[in-house]
Amino acid sequence: MIIEQLDNPLPGSLLPTLAGGYYTDPAVFAQEQERIFEQSWFCVVHGSDIPDPGDYRLVQVGREQLIVSRNRRREVRAFFNVCRHRGMRVCTEEAGTRRTFQCGYHAWTYDLDGRLIAAPNLTRMPDIDRDDYGLRRIHVREWLGYVWVCTAEEAPSFEETVLSEVVNRLGEVESLDRYQVENLAIGRRIAYDVHANWKLVIENFMECYHCATIHPELTQVIPEFAEGWAAQTNVGLGAEFGEGIEGFTVDGSAGAAELPLIAPGQERRYFAITIRPNVFVNMVPDHVIVHRMFPVSESSTYVECDWLFLPEVVDSARDVSKSVELFDRVNLQDFDACEKTQPAMSSRLYRTGGALVPAEHHIAFFHQWLVEALRP
Ligand code: FES
Ligand SMILES: [Fe+2]
Repeated sequence: MIIEQLDNPLPGSLLPTLAGGYYTDPAVFAQEQERIFEQSWFCVVHGSDIPDPGDYRLVQVGREQLIVSRNRRREVRAFFNVCRHRGMRVCTEEAGTRRTFQCGYHAWTYDLDGRLIAAPNLTRMPDIDRDDYGLRRIHVREWLGYVWVCTAEEAPSFEETVLSEVVNRLGEVESLDRYQVENLAIGRRIAYDVHANWKLVIENFMECYHCATIHPELTQVIPEFAEGWAAQTNVGLGAEFGEGIEGFTVDGSAGAAELPLIAPGQERRYFAITIRPNVFVNMVPDHVIVHRMFPVSESSTYVECDWLFLPEVVDSARDVSKSVELFDRVNLQDFDACEKTQPAMSSRLYRTGGALVPAEHHIAFFHQWLVEALRP
């Protein structure tokens, strides 16, 4: 892997970006899979995607396909989707409900905790330990109503990685707790296939220098974004709604019922948090928007975006389309920008990268984190 990275060849106010090869080289992507996605806490599904015992979803984390499921006690479990006999995929449909997980090849059968409970002639093979030959379990954690997994042998501290991102952004985890995200329900989910490297999606999310150019609706609702400074650069600071704006909706009209516990300083404000490597959390007074990214290749990223409201708002079938439309437009505008950037990453002109202006300097920390994470 040869990537030209200059130390600091740029004039004072500019910082260098990553070199183009970081966005185009399959070898870099392979290292990211191994050293970042497979080593981090990675947010995979919402709890309501697998509401009942035996419900499962298949997800891709790094190079691994995982089964995320719920056992009889409704505890979340995650397994490598690899049969311990001769390796066939145990589940072959994207989602479903199973009483047991039975492999379709030689019928090895695992219970919802992954234990091997049946196989042809198993009683005549007493030396096979049913736990040792169970589906291999992966670390799981539930937070914000989502299931987070880590495929590493030893998971890093959730507090020192995931929660510390919240502290870095908001100053304290309690500010996020007040939105009670774990009690909210999905009002809408939209999936996006983005033909761009996952890092372009993160970098785009971290800055607002582009807001005036590509986000007319968003800057209408939050005029300060037109100045280009993302609120993410200041600890604890949210971006304020404009005068006369009643809610975080596509036309500034009132949103749904406000979340009951948010503090006065959280009213009429938008907060965003980037949780590396795959989550964005956006908080506004009446809903929370959570993006989960699944990097597919060096030039492709699958994104699922959920709009979460109070359960009574979702149950009442209140029309939330104006709330959804605002960030759906923002997503489409952002992803379009990323897709138009991706092809130029392989230009010889971008071989040593581009420039970060002061409003984007915090992106350099993301680049540093990435380069360090990839170091063997
Ligand atoms: S590969 Fe699964 S039972 Fe043989
Ligand atoms: Fe944007």
